[in-house]
Amino acid sequence: MNAYRTIVILGVLGTFSHVISIGNDDFVDACFGKEGDKPPHCEYIDFDDVFESSDIKFNWSFITKLTISNKRIIGIPTRMFESLPNLESFVVVNSLFYREIDPSSFVDCHKLEHVEITGTNISFLDTHLFPKTPNLKHLLFHHNRINAIKHDAFEFLVELEELNLSYNNLTNLQSGVFHKLKNLKTLDLNHNQLVLLSFDSWFPPDGIHSLAYLDASYNRIVELAWSEITVKKVNLKYNNLTSVHISGNCSELHVSYNTIESVTVGGNCSIEKLYLAHNAIRNFGDLRKCSETLRTLDISFNILQRRFDFLGMKQLTALNVECTNLTLEYTTLHDLRKLRFLDISYNNLKKIDFENLTSQRLLERLMISGNPIGNMSIESIKRNFPNLKALGIYDLPWNESSLSVAIEDLKKHDIKPYIKNDYLFEESLCPLRITRNFSGNGDDHEESAEQGSGGSKTVEYVVIVLLVVACCGLLTKVFIDSRYYGLIFRERGGHRSSISHESLVSCDLNA
Ligand SMILES: *[C@@H]1O[C@H](CO)[C@@H](O)[C@H](O)[C@H]1NC(C)=O
Ligand SMILES: *[C@@H]1O[C@H](CO)[C@@H](O)[C@H](O)[C@H]1NC(C)=O
Ligand SMILES: *[C@@H]1O[C@H](CO)[C@@H](O)[C@H](O)[C@H]1NC(C)=O
Ligand SMILES: *[C@@H]1O[C@H](CO)[C@@H](O)[C@H](O)[C@H]1NC(C)=O
Ligand SMILES: *[C@@H]1O[C@H](CO)[C@@H](O)[C@H](O)[C@H]1NC(C)=O
Ligand SMILES: *[C@@H]1O[C@H](CO)[C@@H](O)[C@H](O)[C@H]1NC(C)=O
Ligand SMILES: *[C@@H]1O[C@H](CO)[C@@H](O)[C@H](O)[C@H]1NC(C)=O
Ligand SMILES: *[C@@H]1O[C@H](CO)[C@@H](O)[C@H](O)[C@H]1NC(C)=O
Ligand SMILES: *[C@@H]1O[C@H](CO)[C@@H](O)[C@H](O)[C@H]1NC(C)=O
Ligand SMILES: *[C@@H]1O[C@H](CO)[C@@H](O)[C@H](O)[C@H]1NC(C)=O
Ligand SMILES: *[C@@H]1O[C@H](CO)[C@@H](O)[C@H](O)[C@H]1NC(C)=O
Ligand SMILES: *[C@@H]1O[C@H](CO)[C@@H](O)[C@H](O)[C@H]1NC(C)=O
Repeated sequence: MNAYRTIVILGVLGTFSHVISIGNDDFVDACFGKEGDKPPHCEYIDFDDVFESSDIKFNWSFITKLTISNKRIIGIPTRMFESLPNLESFVVVNSLFYREIDPSSFVDCHKLEHVEITGTNISFLDTHLFPKTPNLKHLLFHHNRINAIKHDAFEFLVELEELNLSYNNLTNLQSGVFHKLKNLKTLDLNHNQLVLLSFDSWFPPDGIHSLAYLDASYNRIVELAWSEITVKKVNLKYNNLTSVHISGNCSELHVSYNTIESVTVGGNCSIEKLYLAHNAIRNFGDLRKCSETLRTLDISFNILQRRFDFLGMKQLTALNVECTNLTLEYTTLHDLRKLRFLDISYNNLKKIDFENLTSQRLLERLMISGNPIGNMSIESIKRNFPNLKALGIYDLPWNESSLSVAIEDLKKHDIKPYIKNDYLFEESLCPLRITRNFSGNGDDHEESAEQGSGGSKTVEYVVIVLLVVACCGLLTKVFIDSRYYGLIFRERGGHRSSISHESLVSCDLNA
């Protein structure tokens, strides 16, 4: 073994002895590029072994990827990456840092494209954090404790495409923080404590940016300082917004679970998918300005005070008006000839007058659960909706026998019944929910009085969940976070992992 080689390697190992406080039986996962006739491969390197023995098994300069997990890290030493000239990906997972990241660490990382530091206790991103990483495209800092970012932390990352700061402790971001990220396509800020979304000041003042997806859901945002929503897909679910103004060329906006009272629309609306569920909006009239483009609309769980109709909104293919106090009249849905998904559950509809729902020939899924509908002819449903494939009939004031008759009937007509447990119903939150009391408690609904004791339903549950899951690709989403430690992983609010109405609406039925 030549002396030079030994010196270099000892240098590197010395470096790593600072990086990792060795002591447990963990390994470092390293991937190597092509080395002579050896093809690219990955292997676990036991640092204890390597450090103790003089038998060097590999050449560091071929390392393309390093993954360090479950370590206590004293710090990434200055110029560590000099020894790793071919490193493309640097990952630290579930580890403790004794110091914040030193900005002088990441020098001479010309090939570095992917940096992932997640599940650690770093809390601060310093000035010029990546001064010499000209090819860095993916910077993932989710599941840390970051509460402060210097305004020039990302100054030199002109090639950066993805920045993930979700699951941190950010309360505000300084003006100019993303000024130089001209190629940023995805920005994820979900699960922080942000109060203000000052898009105009975070991004370049000329408004030119390439961002296509912004996620700032699960924060505490009360206001948007954003003159034109110029990002294609924006997720602001679970915040504290009280109003929203739709403008710019945004095509998909999620603002469910806020406290929005008013929705206004600027000129040239180009929104295609709009999710406004669980707010306090009383009037949706302005949305008519979006009738040329709007295809999916979810306004469920907003109680309308006046009659509302969807006249003119001809492009709608999916409409969720669950729990909105909607009344169904001839004009209500008349223009929606492209509709394929309709949810009118929990609207206190005593009967569903199919004569008022005759233009929905393409309808594939209809949800009528939770309405005090006494009887219903499945045949007339099939007649009016020849394409119907699924019907939601949960929480109707029907006794066991009439429910099973209806289910049999539906199956005969190739319609799948959605029953309880098939997907997540949110009926308990609906103020319009009818009390399921079959002995009659002054309900003006005639049929409810004639029911027997009822109540317990031993209905066979038809499992169509998988179909829906496949459609929405939810499975991957549900389990995605499982690799993070309880120690570091913190999540506000209990999230349910069942299939929600929103995900049903989200399926693109146009495809
Ligand atoms: C590792 O490989 C590179 C490229 O082949 C070579 O230049 C270098 O001398 C090698 N280093 C050692 C320590 O063998
Ligand atoms: C991370 O946690 C360790 C152990 O609790 C502590 O010593 C260290 O100072 C923390 N690091 C930072 C950057 O806060
Ligand atoms: C988040 O920041 C607040 C203060 O801003 C602090 O009290 C809290 O402990 C921090 N949480 C975590 C998980 O670091
Ligand atoms: C950011 O990371 C979180 C946590 O792993 C993940 O759920 C989310 O999908 C990521 N964001 C993007 C845009 O990929
Ligand atoms: C949206 O508008 C912004 C600024 O006007 C522009 O830079 C961007 O390319 C547009 N995006 C799309 C998808 O049209
Ligand atoms: C934001 O909304 C949550 C839940 O609705 C509420 O508990 C919290 O007090 C609100 N915070 C602010 C700052 O309005
Ligand atoms: C709408 O678009 C037209 C043509 O593209 C343009 O002339 C007009 O200024 C736009 N209006 C608004 C309010 O953006
Ligand atoms: C439902 O709408 C009617 C008018 O259509 C209104 O009188 C009633 O108060 C509304 N119900 C609720 C719970 O707001
Ligand atoms: C159907 O429409 C007619 C005319 O608008 C209305 O009188 C009737 O009440 C509607 N039926 C239902 C169930 O809403
Ligand atoms: C529902 O029952 C009423 C009487 O209770 C009857 O007049 C009506 O025709 C029935 N409707 C259907 C669709 O069976
Ligand atoms: C149904 O309503 C009656 C009359 O209000 C009441 O006595 C009875 O306890 C209720 N039954 C149930 C199961 O809630
Ligand atoms: C169930 O309801 C139907 C129609 O409302 C009625 O004809 C039947 O007698 C009821 N069955 C029982 C067991 O209460």
